[in-house]
Amino acid sequence: MAKKGRILSGHRPTGRLHLGHLEGTLRTWARLQDDYECFFEIADWHALTTGFEDTDLLRENIEQVAIDWLAAGLDPERSVLFVQSDVKEHAELHLLLSMVTPVSWLERCPTYKDQKQQLGDEKTAGYGFLGYPVLQAADIVIYKADTVPIGEDQLPHLELTREIVRRFNNIYGPVFPEPEAKLSRFSVIPGTDGRKMSKSYGNTIDLSDSPEVITQKVRKMFTDPEKIYKGDPGHPDKCPVFVYHNIYNQGRTQPIKQGCESGELGCVDCKVEVIEHLLAALEPLMERRAELDANRSLVREVLAAGAETARAVATDTMEEVRQAMKTAAPAATNP
Ligand code: TRP
Repeated sequence: MAKKGRILSGHRPTGRLHLGHLEGTLRTWARLQDDYECFFEIADWHALTTGFEDTDLLRENIEQVAIDWLAAGLDPERSVLFVQSDVKEHAELHLLLSMVTPVSWLERCPTYKDQKQQLGDEKTAGYGFLGYPVLQAADIVIYKADTVPIGEDQLPHLELTREIVRRFNNIYGPVFPEPEAKLSRFSVIPGTDGRKMSKSYGNTIDLSDSPEVITQKVRKMFTDPEKIYKGDPGHPDKCPVFVYHNIYNQGRTQPIKQGCESGELGCVDCKVEVIEHLLAALEPLMERRAELDANRSLVREVLAAGAETARAVATDTMEEVRQAMKTAAPAATNP
């Protein structure tokens, strides 16, 4: 069957993946595998742009991401799973794209400004960090991907990729397609404090958490602040626990909503029910996760095979890029 197109997307190996990654991206990626040619990248160089000082855990984090991906259903038989730094061509293309990318485009990128504020100057003053979106553009276009499934937070980077592609193609001729974003259904999952789930907020439920830890985290989870006692009428739309019912307990959202609003259902019982469904939904993933964690050589083999496939595609594209830019040596001619 002809595929609809080619996908590239990725995660940075900055720590354990959490429910936000699972619902925001991994489930979407897993579904897309049949319809698209898929490349999924563990973006370790991107992790270095801010985490360049602590690299002790980088290698372990890479493998943990691979384990999470495989456990969530990314399938090496159908998709190419690889580590960015295993395909050095990304670095070459990043350099070449940096020539056609005005610094002003990068400085006005909203994620650049946000991160600078959040992480402070020390971590974000580097040249590599400014160029983060250029590296991301290289990741995408080196595979000539036309579709990029991402969360909303990544849209500015995709817009920059498109601008860089237009500029490159204008100067050197049409080498790269302009990729389009594909947004996930649940792009923002609330964390245990009600804010967006994010490692930097310390409010995550990790895919590697044990059922006991998950139970504890949900028990302590933020709820509608106006519902203090059972009997108080609640507002499900303001309660992160209700978002979880919406995802993991879809058959019962109506009665839960009614019970909460009328006051009949207390937060403790509401959480007991959601925990049960959340754990049931995660159980197959947790089992696969444990198996893979115990079989690292398999995980490493998957990544090595993925890198080889990715490299073959990247090498061809770079050949074309060098031709287009006229930096390739002319073919040897016979005297
Ligand atoms: N910047 C992305 C993130 O933080 C990770 C990433 C790197 C990526 N390269 C990519 C995503 C290419 C999509 C396409 O989530």
